Amino acid sequence: MTASPEDIERAAAVLRAGGLVAFPTETVYGLGADAVNPAAVRRVFEVKGRPATHPLIVHLGSAAALDRWAVDVPPAARLLAEACWPGPLTMLLRRSPSVPDVVTGGRDTVGLRVPAHPLALALLERFGGGVAAPSANRFGRVSPTTAADVQADLGSDVDLVLDGGPCQVGVESTIVDLTGAEPEVLRPGGVSFERLEEVLGRPVGLWLGDRDVAAPGTLPAHYAPAARVEVLDDVSAVAERAAQLLVTGRRVAVLAPVALAGLPDGVVELEPAGGPESYARVLYGRLRQADRLGVEVVLAVPPERVGVGVAVRDRLIRAAAAGRAAPGHGSST
Ligand code: TXA
Ligand code: MG
Repeated sequence: MTASPEDIERAAAVLRAGGLVAFPTETVYGLGADAVNPAAVRRVFEVKGRPATHPLIVHLGSAAALDRWAVDVPPAARLLAEACWPGPLTMLLRRSPSVPDVVTGGRDTVGLRVPAHPLALALLERFGGGVAAPSANRFGRVSPTTAADVQADLGSDVDLVLDGGPCQVGVESTIVDLTGAEPEVLRPGGVSFERLEEVLGRPVGLWLGDRDVAAPGTLPAHYAPAARVEVLDDVSAVAERAAQLLVTGRRVAVLAPVALAGLPDGVVELEPAGGPESYARVLYGRLRQADRLGVEVVLAVPPERVGVGVAVRDRLIRAAAAGRAAPGHGSST
């Protein structure tokens, strides 16, 4: 971690002046703006290339600020805030009238989260207000998990980048909608279904897309590297699929929890990603690495479907869908 107290102070001043600060969280880096400054928030959308209808998460320094941003906060949200904040959980709640439309895309809900990263918390405390921040990547691409990733993606479009080292969780927060009769997960993430159910004492379902929500994290084609991703659950199918692709002259990489035996010569073997938590931490870095190596197809064996493994699988499947939408090229919308 290289950011100093002076860096934090400077970052808070940039936010106060309506500028953009990229900052580390435990999940991925965020591109932050003062959430009550509509012009600053609009610039976030411009820099990301993101449609204005796709709302931003407001990051808070502590759960004590909840009632400034949300109204009709249900008991389930209090329980989750108590148990999971600071942490990789975003709650959708009825927004307070003071939340600008530009943050919520005109919706009557707002996404709130207290991130678990010392630099993020120091910045939020120093700044004092809410920081609206999406992941600090161009729309539709792989989220950044290091300060260098942010620089590579956004360059001089961001006024200041706080370097907090590599993100420890590595995939985005879990988004849970608490505005309906039952809590529903819109995006699996750093807080597992198991944990949500433990805290709430009841089953928690995954939203299956039968509503008019168009949150970009729920678009089928999202979170994609330039390389095409193919998800293979059957480990024994990897070598054969790799061989097929190599014959057609493709540059092929394999990403799996453990090293696989019997892969054909010429395959780029990305360093094994390990179990669910380790896999989540390294996923986006490995996909970026594949792009740097000029890989055209990544054959990905997902981790076990437990804990954050569910979120890893979700991102791999979305990345694969993006590749199908635009062969050989991830979604860049
Ligand atoms: O871990 C994370 O959540 C990271 C870090 C920086 O906090 N942020 C992040 O933000 O992933 P973003 O904007 O890339 O993804 C947030 C998702 C988007 O799909 C957005 O549309 C959805 O949350 N979202 C935010 N507010 C919403 C709302 N009021 N209603 C529906 N969806 C919402
Ligand atoms: Mg994002």
